Amino acid sequence: MDSKILRDNRRFAGAFLINERGDVLLQLRDSDPSIDNPGKISVFGGSLEANENYRDGLIRELKEELNALFCDSELKFLSKIRKTESGITTDCEFYYIKLVDDLKSYTVSEGTGLILELSRAHLDDRLTPTCLAMVKELQSKTNYGYALATGEGDIERLDALDSVYGVDARRFVEYACKDIHPTTIIDYGCGHGHMTAFLAGLYPCAQVFGIDTSMEQLESARARYRSIIGRLQFIHTSELFEFDIKADIIFSKFVIIHQVNVDAYNDEILSLCHNNTIVIFIEPILNGMLVIPHIDAIYRANELTIQLGLSKGINYSISKREIESITSRFDIKEFKVMQPILGSSNGKFIVARSFDQISGELIDRCICTTDETEKISRELWEFVADTTISCAGMQIIHLACSPKERLKYSK
Ligand SMILES: C[S@@+](CC[C@H](N)C(=O)[O-])C[C@H]1O[C@@H](n2cnc3c(N)ncnc32)[C@H](O)[C@@H]1O
Repeated sequence: MDSKILRDNRRFAGAFLINERGDVLLQLRDSDPSIDNPGKISVFGGSLEANENYRDGLIRELKEELNALFCDSELKFLSKIRKTESGITTDCEFYYIKLVDDLKSYTVSEGTGLILELSRAHLDDRLTPTCLAMVKELQSKTNYGYALATGEGDIERLDALDSVYGVDARRFVEYACKDIHPTTIIDYGCGHGHMTAFLAGLYPCAQVFGIDTSMEQLESARARYRSIIGRLQFIHTSELFEFDIKADIIFSKFVIIHQVNVDAYNDEILSLCHNNTIVIFIEPILNGMLVIPHIDAIYRANELTIQLGLSKGINYSISKREIESITSRFDIKEFKVMQPILGSSNGKFIVARSFDQISGELIDRCICTTDETEKISRELWEFVADTTISCAGMQIIHLACSPKERLKYSK
């Protein structure tokens, strides 16, 4: 990395203030056309002074803008990004601060304080693109809006998921895209990049983009597929506007089930299509498992996962809302439902690990008692260890679609 470029870049630090109820304090900027992003929603914070580090600069800015003195240990790192606007590059770091105070108690001296419910904040179309990306990152990190896919600590589970469900996904891509010679491919919600790398291998002449809202996932994907970086780029959703991509194939696996606003997600996909784009959606039907012999804990774990999703406005088991959102924008060209067997302990491990990942939240949200959660977890790990039992995993819908005639774009 060129140290001169780093030194010359502007630097910005911003913070999200969140309370225990999951509300977030944001800054509604004045409508003055002479300021950046007038009338838009962004975070409190600002540009750093020379020789100031991000944390010190942020503490100073929050004192100026909110008349509140925070200490270093209260600042939790969220993410960093580099953005370029009107030829000016800015290195930004974002933090969040968990508070017990009433968010209304702050005296705001720049813009107006605006309190939004974090799990729905991304729906407000006044958010600046960077603020929107960071809101999604914050939802992911704090489990408001999004629980099952996580960052670094989730690598083992995502590898296991890929080993079980990736086989059919790869076959489906080869089948549905057999007549296509793509030059640009997107893996949207690429996670750790398994499928992104597969697509790059399948189409060695294409430029492949793995796109995700999670910096942690992207960093993990970049580290893993370092050797083919070049033709394969992992980019954050907030950087997408810099690329102006229209893709020949858009692949999206296990992402819709995590959306509070499925329509907004599908609109994002649509905006990346040209007339002949093939869009592949692969999503699970969570309540479609079959266990032989019957094991109560598995059915109960699925039931609770679905209930947790519903409590957050998310449908972990794809159904009417998700299908209608897709079919109002895309024509379905191919449709398959697969249900792989979870035979090996590697595959079965997904069931137990996924449940353990959400058990804290099930208890916090009073969906399940601590005793029942522990009992289910114990039985699931016994199932993993028992080599005599296997079960059919989740049913997975594989769809290949193209944008509807009336919505078509030119390349
Ligand atoms: C369950 S993981 C699936 C990852 C990958 N597609 C796979 O099948 O291994 C879901 C991924 O979608 C990302 N994601 C969720 N909502 C997104 C959105 N609106 N835009 C882009 N990525 C999103 C998450 O950060 C996460 O990496």
